[in-house]
Amino acid sequence: MKKAVVVYRSHSGVTRRYGEEIGACLTRHGIATSVASVGDCDFATVADADYLLLGCWTSGLFVILQHPDEPWLAFVRDMPETKRPRVALFTTYLLATGSQFPKMRAAVTGKTNAPELELKSRHGRLSAADEKALEKFMA
Ligand SMILES: Cc1cc2nc3c(=O)[nH]c(=O)nc-3n(C[C@H](O)[C@H](O)[C@H](O)COP(=O)(O)O)c2cc1C
Repeated sequence: MKKAVVVYRSHSGVTRRYGEEIGACLTRHGIATSVASVGDCDFATVADADYLLLGCWTSGLFVILQHPDEPWLAFVRDMPETKRPRVALFTTYLLATGSQFPKMRAAVTGKTNAPELELKSRHGRLSAADEKALEKFMA
């Protein structure tokens, strides 16, 4: 059975909900999935996973300078290099994600395989399009 780890950083709960919905989708597709916040995730689970989905809420000046927050960046900095899992990124936002994904991609460069998928949501609910994209990612 394939294994996935969904790791999120959420300030007020929306990204946690999105991470949980992403995790539930993977579980429905027969993947043994754990979902944890950056504070609760242990690196051994990540190293052993087939899929790693990293999520962080979008912070910035709403139209410019979006970036993942420090706890998410610290998690990625502290994470040992791991080239086993296939990687996806996700975020939640209100207006524009702008530089959020480029900043997330830059943070994981050299640490993980290149991210193959980026998912974003304003409300933290998995859309039908997200589900299709995840199915392709898992295939
Ligand atoms: C300080 C602050 C800065 C934010 N900056 C942006 C931004 O630059 N662009 C954007 O679209 N949303 C921005 N948002 C909205 C959040 O990204 C959005 O509400 C997100 O879903 C929050 O996720 P969370 O509930 O997991 O913390 C900002 C919110 C806060 C509190």
